[in-house]
Amino acid sequence: MNQFMWKNIFNIGIADIDRQHREFMDLLNNFEQKSSIKKESEIKQSMIDQLKLYATKHFRSEESMMKENVYPELEKQRQMHKYFETQISEMASSPEKISPNSVFTFMRDWFLNHIMEEDIKFAQYLK
Ligand SMILES: [Fe+2]
Ligand SMILES: [Fe+2]
Repeated sequence: MNQFMWKNIFNIGIADIDRQHREFMDLLNNFEQKSSIKKESEIKQSMIDQLKLYATKHFRSEESMMKENVYPELEKQRQMHKYFETQISEMASSPEKISPNSVFTFMRDWFLNHIMEEDIKFAQYLK
């Protein structure tokens, strides 16, 4: 089992965004846990849909905060978020073809990388 532990260094220092990032990772842990027990693609699909819904909500809230603060890298952020949403949509459209482990690893790595390399720049910009 690939449970993921949230660490302090993942906090970028904007409370709302940090909470959303953490909630997303909790959902992802949940997905990993359940999908290793139940193999039905219907369950896998509903959980991928849930992850997608949450990620989408988070991205829009981050983008509107960036817009309000005239963040110069907003467009770059939008494109990266869009890429992630497209990837999740593809996974959700053919859940029988994917392994829960690869979904988990892809989302965890992309999300963490994005937080530590991109979202953190927004927090620094606000200071
Ligand atoms: Fe972002
Ligand atoms: Fe984010």
